[in-house]
Amino acid sequence: MYLVFWSFFALICVVLDFVQAIPSCDDACLFDTILRPRLSTNASIVHSSSAAPRWSEFNPPQTGTVVNVATEHDVLLTVQYCIAADIPFFAQSGGVGWANTFSLGKTGTTINLRGLNEVTFNEKRTEVTVQEGTIIEEFINAAYQNHARVATGNCNCVGVMGAALGAGVRRLMGLYGLTIDNLISMNIVAADGKAKVVTPENDPDL
Ligand SMILES: *[C@@H]1O[C@H](CO)[C@@H](O)[C@H](O)[C@H]1NC(C)=O
Repeated sequence: MYLVFWSFFALICVVLDFVQAIPSCDDACLFDTILRPRLSTNASIVHSSSAAPRWSEFNPPQTGTVVNVATEHDVLLTVQYCIAADIPFFAQSGGVGWANTFSLGKTGTTINLRGLNEVTFNEKRTEVTVQEGTIIEEFINAAYQNHARVATGNCNCVGVMGAALGAGVRRLMGLYGLTIDNLISMNIVAADGKAKVVTPENDPDL
């Protein structure tokens, strides 16, 4: 946690140094020079809102930058960078969610989680780890291949986590409850730029 704090602090200083040293470096330039080298090799930064495809083109978020993350650590660094650079951001997995709060304008950033879509069952197939960008179709297919049943949402193209945060309603809920009732733990990056593992024991509020 201290390491996370100090790296966060260092990132703020780097952003401020750059803004003072190279005033001609605009938001896109800052993303490319400061954040990009810190992200994993398979991550990418695209300065176009169409880089994060959505289910419907009705009133889509039109953020100027999309960060396509490839690891959990990329998510942490991107959130920390956006906080340090005072850039509004939102996270997208299935690209189905729709709310006025997603209208961040061109200065905003989409953190596209879609590349994080691994689904891993434990040996007994009693627990499953689902990465944040997984959509329900991928989750159901992985469950089928593993002869398991999972508590998730109903619509294939929706992000598993998006559905879970809205409870997670599906045909099997009479037997197993909502998705959110079945969560054991969650790795999150909080809005203050800190990574934490949330469980019922260590963070009952969340
Ligand atoms: C990057 O992506 C390629 C192609 O999908 C994959 O083969 C490779 O393992 C990835 N590299 C890392 C470090 O994850």
